Amino acid sequence: MVIRRATPADHGWIRDTAADVYRPLGDYATIIPTWLEHTGVLAYVEEAPEEGRNCRRGFILLGFYEPGAPGAYVADLLAIAVAPRFQRRGLGRQLLRYAIHLARLAGRDRDVPEMRLTVAETNEAGRRLFAWAGFQVLEEDHGCYEGGQRAMRMALAL
Ligand SMILES: CC(C)(COP(=O)(O)OP(=O)(O)OC[C@H]1O[C@@H](n2cnc3c(N)ncnc32)[C@H](O)[C@@H]1OP(=O)(O)O)[C@@H](O)C(=O)NCCC(=O)NCCS
Repeated sequence: MVIRRATPADHGWIRDTAADVYRPLGDYATIIPTWLEHTGVLAYVEEAPEEGRNCRRGFILLGFYEPGAPGAYVADLLAIAVAPRFQRRGLGRQLLRYAIHLARLAGRDRDVPEMRLTVAETNEAGRRLFAWAGFQVLEEDHGCYEGGQRAMRMALAL
């Protein structure tokens, strides 16, 4: 398996996979392309040989923003997903580990003390994955998704 930087040829797959796995939350077929085009967002895909051909199985989108004082960045894990037929094989953990590694690398050149993310209160798989990595709840009520689910903000010190 390999985790590599996404190219424009991967964007359609990322959009379609996100639209599928995030369907209960909202219209990710529209949201994802705007993130993919943003210069502050890094996209990576995981791929491996499956059934005789190289197959994309998961992706991460990692953005950076300055919430307060200029020069202090937060790494924002905008999305992490594994295609349904490859879930529960440890790929989510590998992708999350990689996202944390990337954010720590970015912290060598600039001040990136924290990684944050937003997860639906109803998303048991996501919440368990993030708790496993040490994320703590920062805000119980960070608004709502289009689908009506309460959004929680979580953070990890890097
Ligand atoms: C969240 C997600 C990325 C996890 O990916 P994955 O490859 O299935 O995760 P892993 O196999 O590495 O498992 C990590 C842990 O996640 C939790 N988990 C994964 N799927 C789960 C499920 N269906 N129900 C409950 N917990 C689940 C478990 O704690 C699991 O460990 P365990 O199976 O040993 O108990 C995947 O379910 C997914 O893509 N979901 C849709 C997108 C999403 O919700 N992303 C997170 C919010 S941005």
